[in-house]
Amino acid sequence: MASRGEFSSRTAFILAASGSAIGLGNIWGFPIKVASNGGGAFVFTYIILTFLLAYPILMAELVIGRHAKADTVKSMAKISSDKTRWLGMSTGYWGMLTASLILSFYAIIAGWMVAHALGSLLSVAGVSESWFVSDSLARSAVFCVIFFVLTISVVANGVSSGIEKWSTRLMPILILIIVLLIIYIATLPGAAEGWKVYLQPDFSKVTDPSLVLDALSQAFFSLSLGVGTMMVYGSYISKSENLPRLGAAVAAMDIGIAVLAGMLVIPAIYVAQHNGVVIYDDAGNLIESTGLIFNVLPALFNTMGAAGGIVSILFFVLMSIAALTSSISMLEVPVAYATDSHDVPRAKAAWLVGIAILVFSILLVLNMSWLFGKVVNFATEFSEPLIGILFCFFVGWVWRRDQLLGELQEGNPQMQETLFWKIWPNYVRFVCPAIVLALLIRSSGLLNF
Ligand code: PHE
Repeated sequence: MASRGEFSSRTAFILAASGSAIGLGNIWGFPIKVASNGGGAFVFTYIILTFLLAYPILMAELVIGRHAKADTVKSMAKISSDKTRWLGMSTGYWGMLTASLILSFYAIIAGWMVAHALGSLLSVAGVSESWFVSDSLARSAVFCVIFFVLTISVVANGVSSGIEKWSTRLMPILILIIVLLIIYIATLPGAAEGWKVYLQPDFSKVTDPSLVLDALSQAFFSLSLGVGTMMVYGSYISKSENLPRLGAAVAAMDIGIAVLAGMLVIPAIYVAQHNGVVIYDDAGNLIESTGLIFNVLPALFNTMGAAGGIVSILFFVLMSIAALTSSISMLEVPVAYATDSHDVPRAKAAWLVGIAILVFSILLVLNMSWLFGKVVNFATEFSEPLIGILFCFFVGWVWRRDQLLGELQEGNPQMQETLFWKIWPNYVRFVCPAIVLALLIRSSGLLNF
């Protein structure tokens, strides 16, 4: 078998897994959902749900991965009983397919971010940027290819000299850029109004079912759950680490960056509004949800004079970095399968699998109007939660309890006495599947509650 990699330290794992979790979901998706769901009330619900639902499922993935030290298919087979092995392996395959589907649309959006970063650079240099910042088939295709080449090159280099090296370098830069932008935007007229909306939750909205639903799917997608990414990253954690603590650090980082991204984007929206950019219609609905980042923010940057160019470059570079540390974690799922289960050399696996997914991405670019949304919904609203339930089912009902405890005791010998052990196993057994199932039924429209 090809030799497996391992993260070289606790910090390296936390940065790589946070790099996976923190992405377009946090910096693009989260602020849009905050803006369209009444500000602080959404932030509050999202944080609660991340702790109550997403963290326990994250732990399920990490513990399975580190126990089996293999790709998702082998890992699931290892914790299965004879009777459930087929289901375990199918779950692994399905996760792999979902990770690939997510990468196929994610890379297109990420490509737009790279295009905007380059466009801002050109405009500062006095060269026309219009091809880079206006929507066209050619632009989407070209930048999708560029983004795939970046992603594949990192994954081809392996766990410690590829994923770890780039995540540990890029993540601190990302955080620095966000903080700088928050400080700058906070000084602009109009920002104070945004801070008020963001920080004062309107608790009457917390019970709104569509807000809860949005917050739940956001919590899932944002922590990279239900595709096997965290399972594979878990398989590269050393046995001497305390898993619940690592998982908590990653969840806290993910929430932290989402909240920071909100502090950047929400005040920015109000600054833009102050400068005459139309954001909400008369009924108070967000006019452009997906266009928020690509239209509203550049419009804001344009009103800032000379500084606007630099802010724009920084912002879109930041988006591209965040997307890259996530996309490598998606590609790692099928690549780990090719190297672990089929002994394909890593670089070859990364290029072969990467190019296959790229071909599908190009198909999406060509059929954007009818196919793109379907793939996004299938992967994020259907597959991810369902696979999440299956992971819970295996940890809670199938995997032998003594083996589960044994794995958690690695790096934490007192595990049996901890609050985590007293609550978590039954929690993933009953509570998580029940909540996710309710969510799925609700979103399929079968029941209205
Ligand atoms: N968590 C990433 C984000 O917020 C997306 C992602 C989903 C990454 C699934 C890996 C797997 O952008």
